[in-house]
Amino acid sequence: MTPATGAPLGLGVLASGRGSNLQAILDATAVPGFPARVAVVVSDRERAQALERARARGVPAVWLNPKDFGDRPAYDAALTGALEAHGVGLVCLAGFMRILGPAFVRAWAGRILNVHPALLPAFPGLAAQRQALEHGVKVAGATVHFVDEGVDTGPIVLQASVPVHPDDTEESLSARILVEEHRLYPEAIRLFAERRLTIVGRRVLVR
Ligand code: GAR
Repeated sequence: MTPATGAPLGLGVLASGRGSNLQAILDATAVPGFPARVAVVVSDRERAQALERARARGVPAVWLNPKDFGDRPAYDAALTGALEAHGVGLVCLAGFMRILGPAFVRAWAGRILNVHPALLPAFPGLAAQRQALEHGVKVAGATVHFVDEGVDTGPIVLQASVPVHPDDTEESLSARILVEEHRLYPEAIRLFAERRLTIVGRRVLVR
């Protein structure tokens, strides 16, 4: 993998929708001296705003249509092909709403990050903010974690909390959490690119 002093680490960002986390990553990596750059953006949805955001920055934008592949392993192999073709050293899931198969996760073990809008291990899976509101928690937040074969179960890199207000809606809470996602994700990428992260069992040690 790329040393902190050499060429910037190539990021492959996988996104299915709006792409605001991708935008935060694009903005952070555009700052001179940032130790990573976005090498390619891949989406499973043709009309994902994330693909437009990539094109607007001159970053290769690839649509991989699940319907073009017979099964998950075939899709995941194409994904790996696209990432390798662009020299990716770290895969960043940013609102990618497809489960990645075990072969993909093993092939990229220790080199896939995800952002999740909850303080994991609370509220994994879909609609985390709604789950938090329905549970009545007073504190919610964002997590950046390494991806393992479970759903939102991998070792945690960074977390940030936000308060939950009595009058919060899913939208207002999501917006508050998103601010933290946009701050944490580039920071986690920087730590990885600077080789300051070590996974020890369930824990991620930060140097
Ligand atoms: C973000 O809130 C991200 O945490 C969430 O989807 C949103 C994508 O927004 N991901 C998950 O819920 C994954 N379990 P974005 O497309 O604007 O970055």
